[in-house]
Amino acid sequence: MKDKINGTNRIEMTFQNLPENERIGRTLAAAFASVLDPSMEELSDFKTAVSEAVTNAIIHAYPETQGDIIMVFERENNVVRVHIRDFGVGIADVKKSMEPLYTTLESGERSGMGFTFMEAFTDHVEVESELGKGTSVSLTKKMGGEKWNKPVN
Ligand SMILES: Nc1ncnc2c1ncn2[C@@H]1O[C@H](COP(=O)(O)OP(=O)(O)O)[C@@H](O)[C@H]1O
Ligand SMILES: [Mg+2]
Repeated sequence: MKDKINGTNRIEMTFQNLPENERIGRTLAAAFASVLDPSMEELSDFKTAVSEAVTNAIIHAYPETQGDIIMVFERENNVVRVHIRDFGVGIADVKKSMEPLYTTLESGERSGMGFTFMEAFTDHVEVESELGKGTSVSLTKKMGGEKWNKPVN
């Protein structure tokens, strides 16, 4: 049974920067990872991380315009990687933006903890950004724990 999910998978989609797509992105992340039979905690952590990245692309990348967000899911054996890419304003200082509590939306609505959660809830976070060109966030997470600690065919 498990042998069938050795190998790779890839799904790519484009969606608009609409608030309702945060929930869709989060649900798709869970669906994509579910083949690995992750624990509830792994799944919930992965969903939270993805939803933080998608929310950022929706609310920060395009403050006053419509824009596309590309989401790519990739799986190699029991490692899942998701890329969330926008073509919006970009981030001036990526390192600073990833510090806990750092936010440029001072409305009180944002906590500045998005990147911190992404780092806490996945194995690896990569951010590439260019002002005026957009941002790409990649999250990598190994899931399925013990069930996968056996040789790959
Ligand atoms: N996709 C993005 N496009 C532009 N800016 C972004 C993007 N993602 C994050 N940022 C910047 O990084 C900051 C920190 O993000 P985050 O840790 O998620 O905190 P929050 O979303 O609560 O502000 C944001 O306030 C914003 O300035
Ligand atoms: Mg955020």
